Amino acid sequence: VGAMTMTDLERYKDKVSALPKNVDHLCRYQGFWYKQGFWYQSKADFSVEAIMAAQDDFHAQPTDIFLASHPKTGTTWLKALSFAILNRTKFKTMRGSSPTHPLLTVSPHDCVPFIDCESFLTNPSYANGLLATHIPYTSLPKSIINTDCRIVYICRDPKDVLISSWHFLNKLNDEVSTPITLVDAFEVFSRGMSPGGSYWDHVIGYYKASLERPSKVLLLKYEELKNDPEKEVKKLAKFLGKPFTEEEEFDGSVQKIIELCSFENLREVSNDGKQTSKVLSDSPFFRKGVVGDSINYLTPEMIQTLDKITKEKFDGLDISF
Ligand code: A3P
Repeated sequence: VGAMTMTDLERYKDKVSALPKNVDHLCRYQGFWYKQGFWYQSKADFSVEAIMAAQDDFHAQPTDIFLASHPKTGTTWLKALSFAILNRTKFKTMRGSSPTHPLLTVSPHDCVPFIDCESFLTNPSYANGLLATHIPYTSLPKSIINTDCRIVYICRDPKDVLISSWHFLNKLNDEVSTPITLVDAFEVFSRGMSPGGSYWDHVIGYYKASLERPSKVLLLKYEELKNDPEKEVKKLAKFLGKPFTEEEEFDGSVQKIIELCSFENLREVSNDGKQTSKVLSDSPFFRKGVVGDSINYLTPEMIQTLDKITKEKFDGLDISF
């Protein structure tokens, strides 16, 4: 890691106070909306200050690999799969084998840190150069692009992202405030004013990068991973520079990784590990893990509106959900 001296996010106070704000006290920075790290009871993770600090202080190495995503699109799953693929010779995926696979005891978030997290910025820990971020492509720390690092981006149907975020935020805010109504969450999300939003613009940034630099930016879709995990995991392994050998494909290595990283398995580990993992207490990262759950919550009008935005935003782009 290059020099990372930053510990104090408060140095951005003046810069942040000068930014445009919306009614939810989110601020607009480089075209996207973010929470302020020092707003009432807000955490500094993925706050505008954390992003500014990452931009100023994070220096990527050419061999670093970044897992990028908008929140609630399958970040945890992508972390687990990538970690398991890259470390498959070091750790066996079976329970009871030795040494114990980290994914059988700790959260994928403990295996792959976010660079826009306060704890990482304060004390950067580099486990084999695999890192994650929620920062939009156009706001990534310059060195990530300049040193040509590989980036895997995962995206997901906006309707499911909204429902997943809505549940997540209410779960996190459980004890501190009244729940956010779905109508409010829908309004904010569809106007592109949710944290990290506009979601559509977040996707477009990485989508365009994947066209311009296909050998460096890989776009995955949550739905495709669900639908054909074997195909997508092989694609991911190849992109990460660790393709499965014929022998591995034959001996079921791909399937074992898919199994290890399955929703059921990771959730079970997170429930068992409540005492040891800070990140996963009460598993807010594992809710249902299915495609299309939004249909159970959104009104037909909401669905129509979101699909219309998606169609308009992605007009002329080869991307759909
Ligand atoms: P739902 O809320 O729709 O269930 P993120 O990791 O980016 O925060 O995304 C969380 C979403 O991914 C949640 O979606 C969660 O349940 C789902 N998820 C987490 N782990 C998963 C896995 N191993 N397989 C499939 N989906 C998973």
